[in-house]
Amino acid sequence: MHLSKEEEAMFAGEQGRATQKAMQILVALGKIYDAERLIRVSSVQVSGVSYKNLGDAGLEFLNELARDGRARVKTTLNPAGMSLTDWESQGIASGFAEKQLEVIGAYEKLGIEISCTCTPYLAGNEPVFGNHIAWGESSAVAYANSVIGARTNREGGPSALAASLTGRTPLYGLHLRENRVPTVAVDVEAQLRRPEDFATMGYFVGRAVKDGLPRFRGVKRAALEDLKTLSAALASSGGVAMFHIEGLTPESALRAKGLETLTFTGKELAETRSMLNDDGTPDFVSVGCPHCSLTELATLAKLLSGRRVRREFWVCCSREVKRQGDEAGHSRVIEKSGAKFALDTCMVVAPVEELGFKVVATNSAKACHYVRNAGLKVRFMSLEQCVEEATRGA
Ligand code: F3S
Repeated sequence: MHLSKEEEAMFAGEQGRATQKAMQILVALGKIYDAERLIRVSSVQVSGVSYKNLGDAGLEFLNELARDGRARVKTTLNPAGMSLTDWESQGIASGFAEKQLEVIGAYEKLGIEISCTCTPYLAGNEPVFGNHIAWGESSAVAYANSVIGARTNREGGPSALAASLTGRTPLYGLHLRENRVPTVAVDVEAQLRRPEDFATMGYFVGRAVKDGLPRFRGVKRAALEDLKTLSAALASSGGVAMFHIEGLTPESALRAKGLETLTFTGKELAETRSMLNDDGTPDFVSVGCPHCSLTELATLAKLLSGRRVRREFWVCCSREVKRQGDEAGHSRVIEKSGAKFALDTCMVVAPVEELGFKVVATNSAKACHYVRNAGLKVRFMSLEQCVEEATRGA
């Protein structure tokens, strides 16, 4: 793989141990994928922040890099395993909190923004069409490639960090136009009325196409919230890192001939929806997977106005969107109902299985997938139904 003079110097350790380690990771990755060279990235999103997933080995790796490594491009962080300020009221054990704060300290030392959100594109890390980036959060990767038209592979924790410390990533995969063409067509015949319908479709298609690149036909309109939850569902039941929607997403003119075609009708919508539901009465309601937008906070404020929640109710969002919600007056109404903002974290990366909950109600297909894998039961509902569930009996 060709390296520039500066990259050679990084590789030789002339710019410190952490940069050298990062360059070694990128060169090894480039060799695996036959990349000719490295390219510069304009931003990085690092996943692998929760101590629940990192463990002590991950923490040690971070501390080692933080000795002399520094981010060279704008770098934001995925959610952590708890709110960084209100972890006690979330019921998080102090042993876990101590380790989690150590993880955050290492990232801070590396010069990474402690944004702790999976919707960086709503919180200041906003690439534009054609930017090369290196993002790790799978739902944000699918959103950035498909909706924004930025270019990123689905980075792992170490490769995203390596991109941050060098400002580079190997040129392969979705950084190349030829790999952004669709591999499967999806005819959408079902009526998609609300975000949960998009999530359901994403869950069905992700399972069917695995890491393929679907091109949807027949979707007439899609709001940001629809595309955000579609991205998350496609990337959780499958490994989809990019999709096109005919006439709606910026690269949907890219075509390939003779594609296999899937059809998504009302039958698949109903069957997939029922597959995402277990029995049981929810004792925990959580919305905001991916993290809520300002529009979702506005909807929640409207639905919760003058009501009290009777079950633990988490509203997961970034500190930036919460700040916007404060200014608009939504946060006050939401909090007055007894619902709690879960900032910096979410129901999947927090150790909810240790908090005593048994059945989680959520409006996210991705959350259903992972919360179920953690051993809890799930109920998949619309945002409106989540509020009804949380306030039932009030
Ligand atoms: Fe975000 Fe957590 Fe869902 S990181 S996409 S809210 S699983």
